Amino acid sequence: MREKVKQLIENATEFIKNSENVAQINDLRVKYLGKAGEITGLLKGMKDVPADQRAEVGKYVNEARDKVTAMITEKLAQLEQKALEAKMMKERIDITVDNVDANRGSLHPCTLVIDEVLDIFTNLGFKVAQGPEMETDMFNFQLLNIPKDHPSRDMQDTFYVGEDLLLRTQTSAVQARTMLNTQPPIKLVCPGKVYRPDYDATHSPMFHQIEGLVVDKHVTLTDLKGLLDLFAKTLFDSETKTRFRPSYFPFTEPSVEVDVTCAVCHGKGCKICKGTGWIEILGAGVVNPKVLDRCGIDSKKYSGLAFGLGVERIAMIKYGIPDIRILFENDSRFLKSFK
Ligand code: DAH
Repeated sequence: MREKVKQLIENATEFIKNSENVAQINDLRVKYLGKAGEITGLLKGMKDVPADQRAEVGKYVNEARDKVTAMITEKLAQLEQKALEAKMMKERIDITVDNVDANRGSLHPCTLVIDEVLDIFTNLGFKVAQGPEMETDMFNFQLLNIPKDHPSRDMQDTFYVGEDLLLRTQTSAVQARTMLNTQPPIKLVCPGKVYRPDYDATHSPMFHQIEGLVVDKHVTLTDLKGLLDLFAKTLFDSETKTRFRPSYFPFTEPSVEVDVTCAVCHGKGCKICKGTGWIEILGAGVVNPKVLDRCGIDSKKYSGLAFGLGVERIAMIKYGIPDIRILFENDSRFLKSFK
């Protein structure tokens, strides 16, 4: 009897191990444990086992039943897990996409220039200020020493929205706004859009400027030279030289225009710099004392320096862009080259 049970367990182990699906396992369950199953048969036959052997035989028949039950349960769990995995593999959704990079955007060259210029000045302790694009005549012109009907208005054609309202022509308007409600020391840069009715290869009716202003005690033209020279060397490269030419702006006295050695030919002379080796990058000067006084800052105690640069102009020089309009056409082939 013991031998028979041992054989039964061996056979069952082999069958269970080799079964390949749930149906086969269920058949084995019936074969061994079902109503007419082999182990069930043995259990039923216990009554025929002589009484003195019944306890012992009962023990290993029960053990056989427990063992086969456990093997079947385990195998069933394995097969179910396998079936689930197979189902998941079959129904798997591929959430990866090829060429994700293909249409990834990039920063616009003007944004790149604005970020870089602001970085340079904020590293020098400048704060970033902003003002409205629709401005009053007062902030855009009058407080900056450009009275109504004065010829210097002709320097900047203007889009008027109303009698005293206009689209700002210069970020210098933010100087006036800041000085009116801040006492020195002031160190700010102000990026933003400005508007003028011009349209050709180097002018666009909307463009970007960055204004700079420093007001403190004993600020001089020398500080302006040092600051802008450092700026140009950081923005282009350390070999870049700067040149200050006398100029005129109503809000600065003296006023200068600042040239840098051409970023393309390094001063030798090429098409970009029209053979001169120099390229103008910005206007600047010592803040006109009249402007300080009009904006509530005592010009006997304080002085200032200011500068204003055109972002598109810098982008055109830096990236060799021949026509300002390319910057606003947003041709993706052009924009992609700035990735
Ligand atoms: N606002 C001038 C322009 O739009 C640029 C400028 C020149 C700004 C000299 C300044 C400055 O602050 O001092 O042409």
